[in-house]
Amino acid sequence: MRHLISPLDFSVEELDQLLQLANDIEKNPERYKKACSGKKLATLFYEPSTRTRLSFESAMLNLGGSVLGFSEATSSSAAKGESVADTIRIISCYADICAMRHPKEGAALVAAKHSKIPVINAGDGGHQHPTQTLTDLLTIKSLKGRLDNITIGLCGDLKFGRTVHSLIHALLRYDNVRFILISPPELKVPKYIIESIEAAGAHYEEVTKLENVIGKLDMLYMTRVQRERFFNEEDYIRLKDSFILDKKKMSLAKEDMLILHPLPRVNEISVEVDEDPRAVYFKQAQYGVYVRMALILTLLEVTV
Ligand code: CP
Repeated sequence: MRHLISPLDFSVEELDQLLQLANDIEKNPERYKKACSGKKLATLFYEPSTRTRLSFESAMLNLGGSVLGFSEATSSSAAKGESVADTIRIISCYADICAMRHPKEGAALVAAKHSKIPVINAGDGGHQHPTQTLTDLLTIKSLKGRLDNITIGLCGDLKFGRTVHSLIHALLRYDNVRFILISPPELKVPKYIIESIEAAGAHYEEVTKLENVIGKLDMLYMTRVQRERFFNEEDYIRLKDSFILDKKKMSLAKEDMLILHPLPRVNEISVEVDEDPRAVYFKQAQYGVYVRMALILTLLEVTV
């Protein structure tokens, strides 16, 4: 039985197969509509979510399966003190596969150790968000045609941004990926991520001004400054509008630079940018359904 806890749990070859399956699902949805008939997905969300939870549920329903779960810790027995380990033992009796989001780093790993069903990490604190990474990789591969030979700018909250941490680790496995890390000094990428980049021998720069580097990028991955990860409101207010992507900054970008964002956005991308054909963040959310369908099929070992 396999789980997905980190984006590195799949080899590059397995990832390639998963992305191909997602592309086939996009082209031939009818072929898959009964693939998970009789199977159940549990969504255990101890933190808020729109895209991840609902795209997982949409994915399982598209495959002909059923869904159950909770969308906040207060409506589960976690509110009475039940541990993640005990909860997953119980969920293993009720469902065939589960997706879990939790505010604590490592929670999904703990769940996997006590589970009888595949566990998918749907975000653990500021640590990892592997299914967002699958979504990002599918978006880049589908719209750019490649995952190697790219210069990607990651902008915003690079300290707490689990989507950024997972994406960097995943892209380090492809040739000639150059990282431009754009953040205020207080929200720089953690040291362990920099060490991974250096160990892989990849190029990186850390800068504080988006407009100085936007012209070099093939891809710009914008992120939100996450209020919920700050210990003090003053710091959040001081940093929250550090970067705002608007039409003026976009005029400095390449004509084929893609803008990705895991969403939700707050202020960091002006709504005037939404009409720009380079803005693909809503399309990215749609790719999230196809790739989660492919992931469910893969972990449940269902072949169509
Ligand atoms: N991208 C993402 O994780 O969005 P949600 O928090 O809405 O699930």
